[in-house]
Amino acid sequence: NALTPLPQVLAGKTVTITAGPTREALDPVRFITNHSSGKMGFSLAEAAHALGAKVNLIAGPVSLPTPGGCKRINVESAAQMHQSALEYAPQSDIFIGCAAVADYRAASVASQKIKKQGDEITLTLTKNPDIIASVAALPTSRPYTVGFAAETQNVAQYAQGKLINKGLDMICANDVSNSNVGFNSDNNALTLYWKKERIELPQSSKKELALTVMQAIAEKIK
Ligand code: CTP
Ligand code: CA
Repeated sequence: NALTPLPQVLAGKTVTITAGPTREALDPVRFITNHSSGKMGFSLAEAAHALGAKVNLIAGPVSLPTPGGCKRINVESAAQMHQSALEYAPQSDIFIGCAAVADYRAASVASQKIKKQGDEITLTLTKNPDIIASVAALPTSRPYTVGFAAETQNVAQYAQGKLINKGLDMICANDVSNSNVGFNSDNNALTLYWKKERIELPQSSKKELALTVMQAIAEKIK
């Protein structure tokens, strides 16, 4: 419970976490984005701090207060999040990519408001860099790298594929086909995957899950 002091299993460790969505401008008044409240990433930051870590929280646009004791770096686009992640990751022992990064951005951002035209218009999009894959591929000072995967089907297969293809140490997967959990909810259910192990965490509050995830990571890096 809240009155029991937590063992400081992350004392002396630095944790960098990405959280929330990114926002990709189309013109001065419009953008494309993903659903993401930022609650899971912010809960992870709070939990890491409660376990004794120094925490950098790279946050996309979300309306959440900064957890006490955490350093918050506000970003908007995936490009800005990428730059910030590459700045903080080499000084970190643990990197957690919890952000819902937009996979694509506008190929060109209009400098003036796009005016309404015919009955159909076409947007051309360009792929964004894979932030967590570039952290996992750092040649030196590579942190223990943890991803998240929100899936609507084939959860285990897709999550394990991302673990391998992105070069991650661990991935936390949630099934978002059940609308009671994930996205804006305070609750979530996660399965943690490593290359040779998995742990199922039943539905619980994001705050409780965050503590369990951080304790599992602390156990793996010690
Ligand atoms: N991620 C990232 N940079 C991106 C896209 C995703 O760092 N450009 C990270 C997310 O923060 C998350 C993990 O990769 O930790 C998985 O994100 P997800 O969107 O599930 O993976 P994608 O590779 O984009 O695959 P898809 O959207 O096609 O399922
Ligand atoms: Ca994606």
